[in-house]
Amino acid sequence: MTILEKYIEKYAASRRGKFVSQTTTHEVDGKTTYKHIPETKIPVFPVLSFSSLFTFFQNKPKNVLDHGYPDIPVTAARYAIAHALKHMNMAADDEILIPAYHCTVMVAPIVTMGGKPIFYKITANLDTDLVDIRKKITPKTKAIIAVNYCGFIQNMAEVRALCTEKNIILIEDCAHSFFGQKNGVTVGGHGDYILVSARKFFPVDEGGVLLINGSAENIPQQEKQKFIYSLKSFLALIERSLKYGRLWLLAPLVELFNFLRSATKNVGKVPETEPSVHVDPIDTPSDPDVVQEGENAYNHNLRDKEATFINILLPKILNTTTITKRRRNHYLWLSAQFKKMPHCRLMIEELPEGIVPFMLPVYIENLEKYFSAFEDAAIPMQRFAQFLWPDMAENICPITADYSKNVILFPCHQELSQQDLDWLASTVHNILAQE
Ligand SMILES: Cc1ncc(COP(=O)(O)O)c(C=O)c1O
Repeated sequence: MTILEKYIEKYAASRRGKFVSQTTTHEVDGKTTYKHIPETKIPVFPVLSFSSLFTFFQNKPKNVLDHGYPDIPVTAARYAIAHALKHMNMAADDEILIPAYHCTVMVAPIVTMGGKPIFYKITANLDTDLVDIRKKITPKTKAIIAVNYCGFIQNMAEVRALCTEKNIILIEDCAHSFFGQKNGVTVGGHGDYILVSARKFFPVDEGGVLLINGSAENIPQQEKQKFIYSLKSFLALIERSLKYGRLWLLAPLVELFNFLRSATKNVGKVPETEPSVHVDPIDTPSDPDVVQEGENAYNHNLRDKEATFINILLPKILNTTTITKRRRNHYLWLSAQFKKMPHCRLMIEELPEGIVPFMLPVYIENLEKYFSAFEDAAIPMQRFAQFLWPDMAENICPITADYSKNVILFPCHQELSQQDLDWLASTVHNILAQE
């Protein structure tokens, strides 16, 4: 490591918190126990850097926006679901079929708006279980939400055919899949409504759209955010990059800005105390429109807001050729490593041409045994479906019950360096090799 690299690493570390928010690891005396975990030094989602900066003359890879459908810009895909339900005139007690393998923010809009979520099974390879869906369709079924998990385009063509046969609306959830094609159809090409989430593929902190495969009539105007929020958002994006040793050339500017800001404010901050493991149930939200807190928050009041200008702009101008290439390369490299690791099984063996992964899903036998060590080592990861909608019967989908406990998604985004990848693979390997 050169002196400059050492300095950047030290500076980046000084900007990272010692601990970040909580993640559930276990229950103590029947109460959910939250543990503060060290902040990762590798970003779980992409951050802004000079290397993925824009080019205006690239041959852009196919993506979900290419269909040219009318759209409603939102701050996150969860609000795109709410708009889809509103646009289709979902009535109280209409049934919406939704995969048992989900995150709770996908269910919250349905329930908040008076619909009834009906959970259906997924298959072992993350496809929609069409046999189960057929059993669950009733005269009240209004729509099906089907997901393209992890960037892979699932059996969406078959789901489309079923929806057409039964006259049911298809909401194609492309939150995990912005780019790519399968059998010549670009991602998002099957749904009546298509959900897009920007922060899973781009270095933004909010943003998404609802695409509507239909006429541009009855499309509501979203509330624009003030320009000052865009500036703040941009600064926050740069700050996040600095934490991870990117955009360090901009560090003096940001430091100067922060110095001026704090000099003009009378800051009397209470020093942070070092947190430790504690028992702390999720607060009951005081606002009835807010379902849960933090990452899993669903605030119905945000439905009609669009993202800040900068968060809308970045996905349009960043170098998507580089982004897609790197994601595929990182996925392939990590797959080769995880294949050799003890207790690991790749959920998806192949990476077909044209597919651009969101994250690498890995099944880890008896994950519970190692998960705490993963957290303590600050492994960048996500546990999709760790928390399921509380009213969903546990035995509805045995595959979901299993995956919810034993599957981890590891990042393969464009901003990982080879050093990051080496560290990730070797740290996970060392933990899993301990008996
Ligand atoms: C499959 C899926 N759909 C929808 C969403 C909601 O996306 P957003 O976080 O942009 O609201 C998520 C969130 O992670 C998701 O994983």
